[in-house]
Amino acid sequence: MTGPDTGGDLQTAPPRTRTGWQTLVVRQLRLEADGVVSVTLARPDGAALDSWAPGAHLDIELHDGLVRQYSLCGETGREAEWTVAVRAVQTSRGGSSFVHESLRVGHRVRVSAPRQKFPLERSPRYLFVAGGIGITPLLPMIEELAGTGATWTVHYAGRSRSAMAYLDRLARAATGAGHTVVLHPRDSGPRLDLDAVVDDAGDDEATLVYVCGPAGMIRAARQLVPAARLRTESFDPAPDPEPVPVTTSLLVDISEKPGAADRPFEVQLGVEGAVLTVPAGVPALDVLNEAGADLPWSCREGTCGTCETGVLDGAVDHRDHVLTDAERAAHDCFFPCVSRACGTRLILDL
Ligand code: FES
Repeated sequence: MTGPDTGGDLQTAPPRTRTGWQTLVVRQLRLEADGVVSVTLARPDGAALDSWAPGAHLDIELHDGLVRQYSLCGETGREAEWTVAVRAVQTSRGGSSFVHESLRVGHRVRVSAPRQKFPLERSPRYLFVAGGIGITPLLPMIEELAGTGATWTVHYAGRSRSAMAYLDRLARAATGAGHTVVLHPRDSGPRLDLDAVVDDAGDDEATLVYVCGPAGMIRAARQLVPAARLRTESFDPAPDPEPVPVTTSLLVDISEKPGAADRPFEVQLGVEGAVLTVPAGVPALDVLNEAGADLPWSCREGTCGTCETGVLDGAVDHRDHVLTDAERAAHDCFFPCVSRACGTRLILDL
């Protein structure tokens, strides 16, 4: 996931104490392509950071509560640094503009532990499709496949060749037989024809298709590739509304659930903690943060996963676009920016 950058306005939050977050220092800022800057983060003492796997992302608090998600795109094995890349967004409401205009080497930022929502699954063959900055989670995947015997083709679309980051690393990765990189710069050729690309890949069930790009690209891929073979991640802040699938979790306690966004419910802060009322029409996130819970947030639309909060008891009325059916059915976490309770109370792991 790379930089949803229009979700949420700047907000002020007290110092964060969330588990797994730490303060890192900006060690390097580098122009990777026109409008794309990479940010390399390290511990102030230079000690090793947690390892991560391709597809993982970081939540980064850029400025007084402004949290954005960026895919880790450095070379794996560099234990003392994490690198993400941020594109310049003209309509930025904070994240992109802050990185490009204000962030400097030596600045300190709060950063979550790496989170994995887009893992690389093992397969003998892959088709990777990247749109713009969507190359960032895919690049470490492609590099990870070196020496595994897997074959792959990458189709990478961008505004222009000079605006397409990491072409050098892609070229280095594509040294073996069965490794192909096809570039689609819009200013010097036809647009990426996803239909033709998917057709060329054939309907081989052993070819996994990984797509990362804007919502339109993801939507097109979903129409062309069977779900069993398709893995996607969008960097747009607000995916087009999609029908929420009927899941077992939505059937829990349905008799208790009036089926409206507007029913009040209670949240309890831990097993013996305070009980707060979430009024009709008010996000639980706001109630919790007004009470000092200090939950980070970014999209406020249930798409980024930043506000994920553990649930100890109670059935959740999930309204996010993050969890799988199985994760929903577990009722052990929710996204309080959008989700609510099926019953009268949720006991939270806070
Ligand atoms: S703030 Fe993005 S899912 Fe809640």
